[in-house]
Amino acid sequence: MGFHHVPVLLAEVLTYLAPRQGGRYMDGTVGGAGHSAAILKEAGAQAHLIGFDQDPRALAAAEQRLQPYGGQVTLVHENFRRLRQVAEQLDVVGKVDGILLDLGVSSHQLDEVDRGFMYRMDAPLDMRMNPQGALTAAQIVNTYPSPSRNPMEPSMVSVETVFFPN
Ligand SMILES: C[S@@+](CC[C@H](N)C(=O)[O-])C[C@H]1O[C@@H](n2cnc3c(N)ncnc32)[C@H](O)[C@@H]1O
Repeated sequence: MGFHHVPVLLAEVLTYLAPRQGGRYMDGTVGGAGHSAAILKEAGAQAHLIGFDQDPRALAAAEQRLQPYGGQVTLVHENFRRLRQVAEQLDVVGKVDGILLDLGVSSHQLDEVDRGFMYRMDAPLDMRMNPQGALTAAQIVNTYPSPSRNPMEPSMVSVETVFFPN
């Protein structure tokens, strides 16, 4: 199954990002590159887009989708938390017109059994967006200390505490 899907809130993203001709944009969650392709189309032949994804399969899909834009695209296999460092390496600090973050998982990640995100079918619990990462969800659930028999309980308690204090 591919990463290709209809990007969410595309019209809204283009309205608020308002890509300008020849602008430079960063997509911190490039995924299947639906948003990125639309930004590049709107910003014209002199525009440049830097796309991040921590999932190499997403990057491969983005590379294919953005092939028509050739040298206008730089794809980076990174977590977007390193956006600043990458911007420094590429010498674009203060020279970016807009940044998009479409946060969450992609339907591809949810649908592929071997990614370990789904509970519709039996598969090892993994949930790493970056398969090169060391820690799987199975390791967290099965080895992290818990005061109760339910290993998920500490996280539920802390979410509750954040949203419903007192
Ligand atoms: C909802 S999809 C993005 C879809 C994309 N906007 C499109 O139009 O196809 C989210 C993507 O962000 C990536 N992602 C999630 N958190 C990330 C992070 N912290 N750093 C880099 N990529 C991340 C996921 O691997 C996934 O490919």
